[in-house]
Amino acid sequence: MQVGKAEPLSVVNRRPKITVVGAGNVGATVAQYAVEKELGDVVLVDVIEGVPQGKALDLLQAGPIHGYDSTLTGSNGYEETADSDIVIITAGLARKPGMTRDDLLFKNAEIVGAVVEQVVPRSRNAILVLVTNPLDAMVQLAWKKSGFAAERVIGMAGVLDSSRFRTFIARELGVSVENVTAFVLGGHGDTMVPLPRYSTVAGIPITDLLPPERIEALVKRTREGGAEIVNFLKTGSAYYAPAASVVEMVEAILKDKKKILPCAAYLNGPYGVRGLYVGVPVKLGRCGVEQIIEIKLTSEEQTAFQQSAAAVRELVDKLKL
Ligand code: NAI
Ligand code: 2OP
Repeated sequence: MQVGKAEPLSVVNRRPKITVVGAGNVGATVAQYAVEKELGDVVLVDVIEGVPQGKALDLLQAGPIHGYDSTLTGSNGYEETADSDIVIITAGLARKPGMTRDDLLFKNAEIVGAVVEQVVPRSRNAILVLVTNPLDAMVQLAWKKSGFAAERVIGMAGVLDSSRFRTFIARELGVSVENVTAFVLGGHGDTMVPLPRYSTVAGIPITDLLPPERIEALVKRTREGGAEIVNFLKTGSAYYAPAASVVEMVEAILKDKKKILPCAAYLNGPYGVRGLYVGVPVKLGRCGVEQIIEIKLTSEEQTAFQQSAAAVRELVDKLKL
């Protein structure tokens, strides 16, 4: 076999290009999980000199062991990000104990705005996935700044919050996490709306399996799931489950899976919300958010959802977009 002397192929297939901005805890773990699934080639960008380069090279050298051929490139600039298929923005500050996600608003707005300005002219057809907190406000800002169609700018939060709820349900009932589905809607904050009626074990709603007070305890733990981890870590916030959540979305998009996942999506009518990004179930495929799924809510659930949307709007208004 001659290596390196093959005739050029008439059709050049390239792996999808995934840019991850912010090579900190979430960003680097996203890069790791993405290449482990061989979803594409990854460009890791950060302002700290040497960090994206070092992490990218380290992950590249894990390739022979894991068996991935994805390439990884680290950079402090944006030239390498050109023509990305998907750009994940994790750049920004993370919560410290006692801080709310909302405390991060203005500092992270500045960072996310600057990142979007760099990314957009180089990757006009990309899908943007926002992770930086406060999530719902950051995705609204990124959408405005990018000028992209709303379906190509999406926020990650609901997959994480639902995964936390699923974990707690599975452990409460002593069943496999694979049997548990759950939906958490609304903003990624204290007003998030876990939906027990739509949360099931092998198709059976948990409302038929657990007493109301146990469900309430699991809902409370889910709402406080991020803070619980911040209080343990002390110097930062969760990143393994957040990164896994991002990668589930990336896989759904790049493989055009049409997967139904709760994401922060732009609502202009559904659920009675206009002109705002909030967490709802959507169909994710190669075009981004391909459909907003409107599920029936009880009046109590609808009220909780409206309160959550109002809290998001309050933050977004502060940004004066
Ligand atoms: P981290 O501090 O480990 O990493 C953030 C990285 O962003 C740092 O390496 C920093 O140098 C970089 N950065 C700062 N300004 C930048 C700029 N202008 N351009 C490029 N890179 C820049 O923080 P971590 O844990 O990775 O969290 C990142 C963000 O994601 C935080 O805002 C956090 O609150 C949020 N988050 C959101 C979740 C969600 O469910 N939406 C879940 C977990 C974290
Ligand atoms: C979380 O929920 C900090 O938003 C992040 O863990």
